[in-house]
Amino acid sequence: MNYEESQSIVRLSDSEFEFIVQFVSDHYGIDLSKKRRLIEARLASELKSLGFDNYSQYIALLKKDPNSEKVDNFINKITTNYSYFSREADHYDFLGKKIIPALINEKRRGIKVWSAGCSTGEEPYNIAMAIDSALGSQRSLWNVTISATDVSTRALNIAKEGVYPEAELKAMPENWKKNYMVKQDDGNYRVADSIRKNVSFSRFNLMSPVLQKNYYDVIFCRNVMIYFKPATTQSIVKKFYQATADNGYLFIGHSETISRLDTEYTYISPSIYRKVTK
Ligand SMILES: C[S@@+](CC[C@H](N)C(=O)[O-])C[C@H]1O[C@@H](n2cnc3c(N)ncnc32)[C@H](O)[C@@H]1O
Repeated sequence: MNYEESQSIVRLSDSEFEFIVQFVSDHYGIDLSKKRRLIEARLASELKSLGFDNYSQYIALLKKDPNSEKVDNFINKITTNYSYFSREADHYDFLGKKIIPALINEKRRGIKVWSAGCSTGEEPYNIAMAIDSALGSQRSLWNVTISATDVSTRALNIAKEGVYPEAELKAMPENWKKNYMVKQDDGNYRVADSIRKNVSFSRFNLMSPVLQKNYYDVIFCRNVMIYFKPATTQSIVKKFYQATADNGYLFIGHSETISRLDTEYTYISPSIYRKVTK
């Protein structure tokens, strides 16, 4: 934010701040109770574009229709969509070196993965790359489906586009960059069609009921629940457990933990859990 923008920030009153914290926690699970300055900074341009000079008009709008496009814009501003290729790459190693070989051994011919809180798409595309490179010559025999969901429509639009600046690819293994990313005339990289076709993007709020039961072989939900209160995390992990297929896995972010007392998942290693059923 530049000097001019910081001068145009409108301060929240205590009651306005409390309303926004409660609204976001109730609808999206995100805990903003210690993020007063962040809310003010991120909403400054939104207030300006709507021609409002205070938050009471803005809050009236959120209250009037919690499902309107204005609320979409609000959630696009309030969420943190930071992501990059090969983030916490040991999870892709585990997928490619442990999970896929085990499924091959079981004579399986397909895998269903959910990237929950996929942000701008790097994670689900990386999952598709890890699976593709692990399957090698068997790839054409397999049905690979990766459902990638997020609550931010702005992040999902970038994800669907699938075009990234080279700086985003810094940590990606060279052979993946070569095989799965296509350099564009403008220097950006586009995810190859062979990878894109495995990934479908849709808007989904993790506070909603999860309809799939005993379904996903692997769920990734990394660096999403760090923004939630422990009780919210606990109820979402419960939904993940129901949605995980027998002997399937849950990956969470490296800085996150799930208390053994709060989950039926079996702890495998830091940030990797399994629904062990036999
Ligand atoms: C920091 S990004 C993590 C992206 C990726 N998983 C990674 O580890 O790089 C967190 C994402 O969670 C999404 N998110 C936050 N609350 C959510 C909710 N209630 N439902 C779905 N997605 C949510 C945000 O929109 C954001 O894109």
